[in-house]
Amino acid sequence: MPILGINDEKCIKCMQCVLDCPALLFDEDKTGKIIFSDPNKLCILCGHCISVCPEDAILREKMEDVETFPNVENPEKLVSYKSLFQLFRAKRSIRQYKKDKVPQEMLQKVFDAMRYAPSGANRRAWKYFVISDSKKIKALSDAIIQEFTRNPTFQMMLGEKFKKKQERNIDPIFYNAPHIIILYTFEESQVDTGIAMTYGMLAAQTLGLGTCWIGFAKIAFDLSRKIKNLAGVKGRVSGVMTIGYPNVRYHRCPPRGQVKIKGFKKEVKQII
Ligand SMILES: Cc1cc2nc3c(=O)[nH]c(=O)nc-3n(C[C@H](O)[C@H](O)[C@H](O)COP(=O)(O)O)c2cc1C
Repeated sequence: MPILGINDEKCIKCMQCVLDCPALLFDEDKTGKIIFSDPNKLCILCGHCISVCPEDAILREKMEDVETFPNVENPEKLVSYKSLFQLFRAKRSIRQYKKDKVPQEMLQKVFDAMRYAPSGANRRAWKYFVISDSKKIKALSDAIIQEFTRNPTFQMMLGEKFKKKQERNIDPIFYNAPHIIILYTFEESQVDTGIAMTYGMLAAQTLGLGTCWIGFAKIAFDLSRKIKNLAGVKGRVSGVMTIGYPNVRYHRCPPRGQVKIKGFKKEVKQII
């Protein structure tokens, strides 16, 4: 959606684009006209100018791909704090899954949610890799465990536990999940990927799906080219999650304790 300029007939000079553009690419010229100028190609394509303009006066390459929906202007009316907070509290990392595969349309909804995750300079540099072949997931898990087994500390602390799980046909890495999603990048963007994963996981929860971060897998991908080749992933793996229908129910929210906040005059107890 590269920005091409401003439709002067529509522009009401409200200055919102001037105030909101993070790259300071909009300004008022001597005649009072609002202009867009980007000689150094600084536009990060965040789309804020399109979003904030009340008259839809921002000219861009594709004029038809902008979305709107009721209350887009009032996000606070879309989901209450209470609902969101309760979703955060009820969302668990899922380690027991049903065998059923998740329909592709549903997975697509999770990826759609991740499209809206913020990222540094709006880079959105991550790509996705979905593995749904249970044999391949098992082979990956076995290879990851094998990789860790070489490490004496791991072997001492977790080796036996993992073995016991495997004897019970439980995959201690991917928990017999029907799918795994790998986020990979070709540039450093660990934080961005983490946020995208979190968006996807929360969206998944609203669809009745469970997810779990698999840090073990990420470490193994970092350690071993063999495991990356086995998965067929190129680039740098920056996050791995399982996804599927949960085969577990949680009856209460685990205790999380109060957060310590410096700068508050007195301690504030949890309000909800
Ligand atoms: C970066 C990261 C890596 C994680 N790696 C694993 C993992 O390899 N295996 C696992 O079972 N859980 C993993 N988890 C899940 C955490 O153990 C879990 O979030 C934490 O225990 C809190 O539980 P909850 O998510 O249900 O609230 C990971 C979580 C994060 C954020």
